[in-house]
Amino acid sequence: MLAQVNVLIHKLFVHIVHAMCFHMCIHPHLTSSELIHSRSVVPFVGSSEGQRFQTVLLDEERSRLLLGAKDQIYLLDPDNINKHPKMLSWPAPRDRVDMCILAGKNPLTECANFIRVLHSYNRTHVYACGTGAFHPTCAFLEVKGHKEDSWLHIHSNTVESGRMKCPFDPHQPFASVLTDQYLYAGTTSDFLGKDSTFSRSLGPPPDQQYIRTDISEDYWINEGKFISAHPIADTYNPDDDKIYFFFREASRDGSTTDKTVLSRVARICRVRPVLTLPDQRGTHLIYLILP
Ligand SMILES: *[C@@H]1O[C@H](CO)[C@@H](O)[C@H](O)[C@H]1NC(C)=O
Repeated sequence: MLAQVNVLIHKLFVHIVHAMCFHMCIHPHLTSSELIHSRSVVPFVGSSEGQRFQTVLLDEERSRLLLGAKDQIYLLDPDNINKHPKMLSWPAPRDRVDMCILAGKNPLTECANFIRVLHSYNRTHVYACGTGAFHPTCAFLEVKGHKEDSWLHIHSNTVESGRMKCPFDPHQPFASVLTDQYLYAGTTSDFLGKDSTFSRSLGPPPDQQYIRTDISEDYWINEGKFISAHPIADTYNPDDDKIYFFFREASRDGSTTDKTVLSRVARICRVRPVLTLPDQRGTHLIYLILP
């Protein structure tokens, strides 16, 4: 009996040592072949070089996985990603690509429609945006059917400008979140990537007014690099919910050669996030940078 207990303890100990080793002993840089060998990952056979998968939308409730790539959106079954993958082709228009190349951008890595936004909108629709060869574009996609019989369809009548919802530059760090039918984004809103802004768009009709943070020196975010955005409850009252943005910005006072990078958290009130200015300049999104 005692021997048995000893064996058990030994086994437990070995187990604990293994568990600790898992966190501490494995070198931190695993190669993709090591991961595949350990059977902890499943390679997606439909992917190829240069596709730049940047956006993922996992909808566990409806058992679907969407991947946003260059000019393409994949619809996969999360239980078996290689079983009947569906692909929607959404390239940038030819004239936009030509203009992008003329503007000196890279034809392969910049002048295409890189999908940066994929959010569940309702039971049947997903809201998607892509960089559109430096001309951001958004649209509603409809997901029909279930599992093998599902397919993805773009509603061409819903295609609209993606300015302030999606960056122009596919390499620009960017964050967005869709909640209560509103899309909140932290992005740059111009070709040069100089104007960092928070915006709120979409929303339940008729409240579909576009609002953004004020274009003024005081409100400017200096070289903002957006990381993520999350709706977070503050109190028991849902009206107090806030949208939190995590980002970095360069300090204003540093010289150009010696810039300090600051970690920032900003929050926007979900209810009444607007400031109406008396001088008829319209409404602006207000945000507060937390100390
Ligand atoms: C989902 O939203 C789309 C786009 O606004 C709309 O056309 C569709 O009818 C909505 N579907 C449901 C089930 O509410």
